[in-house]
Amino acid sequence: MRVIDLNKTFGSVMAVKSASFDVPGAQMIGVIGRSGAGKSTLLRMINHLTPATSGSILIDGRDILALRGAARHAWQRDCAMIFQQFNLVPRLDVLTNVMLGRLNRHGTLRSLLKVFGREDIARGLHALERLGIADQALKRAEDLSGGQQQRVAIARALTQDPRMILADEPIASLDPMSAQVVMDSLRQIHERDGLTVICNLHTLDTARTYCDRVIGMRDGAIVYDGPAHAVTTDVARDIYGADDSFNEGVTSTVLEPDDRRAAEVAYLRAAEAGA
Ligand SMILES: Nc1ncnc2c1ncn2[C@@H]1O[C@H](COP(=O)(O)OP(=O)(O)OP(=O)(O)O)[C@@H](O)[C@H]1O
Ligand SMILES: [Mg+2]
Repeated sequence: MRVIDLNKTFGSVMAVKSASFDVPGAQMIGVIGRSGAGKSTLLRMINHLTPATSGSILIDGRDILALRGAARHAWQRDCAMIFQQFNLVPRLDVLTNVMLGRLNRHGTLRSLLKVFGREDIARGLHALERLGIADQALKRAEDLSGGQQQRVAIARALTQDPRMILADEPIASLDPMSAQVVMDSLRQIHERDGLTVICNLHTLDTARTYCDRVIGMRDGAIVYDGPAHAVTTDVARDIYGADDSFNEGVTSTVLEPDDRRAAEVAYLRAAEAGA
């Protein structure tokens, strides 16, 4: 995949500014940056959830941003999205939620009728097994813990048979243990299935632990693109636009999610006051 001079403006806000990067083979990439840096917008443009203002994304020589209609849907199926809030259908059982990933492969009529073939069921169960939650298959999605729900979302993405997985803050709502299980699953999918995984992460330590490559965004621009192990505190400080008081702890998963939000808000205010 080649992302070339990608831009997105919302009114006067330049959410993504001239982003360019190549993904030559299967990679596990962590996108980091403070709130509002443009991480979600970048992923959403790749998946066509948000139309790009300008730029191109080449895959096998064709510009996927130019795709319309059925070709666009085919692309959206090829790059499965995973969201912070899981986006499952709460009242449906887990297996059905997972098989909804297959619907992207069938026509609309079958989608509406929710007709699943034997192969869909087998694939759905297999995906749940891979994520270690096959025993939850018949429970309602809403009855599962957050970490289990995110694993269901990953299983759903897998049944879509994607070429790439885009995960927007997949662990931001999870406790540290669940976060680890979810990140382990994504890493395993990258390694075993050879899929590129691009993951927006609030936490620097997660990016360092799980990703080979880190893309750092600041004010819509890519300000770092390189190996995860080379993200030193100085590099991180630059990405996060912070002063000497920058403390990596504010991006740590060791904190409970609510505490982390509070810490981020406090940190951002402090950074802004100092800027
Ligand atoms: N639909 C929208 N309408 C208007 N402005 C938007 C929209 N979506 C994003 N923006 C703006 O674009 C910028 C980048 O937002 P984006 O959500 O991509 O950031 P982010 O890095 O994902 O932040 P966070 O870490 O909080 O999720 C922000 O200034 C945001 O307010
Ligand atoms: Mg975001």
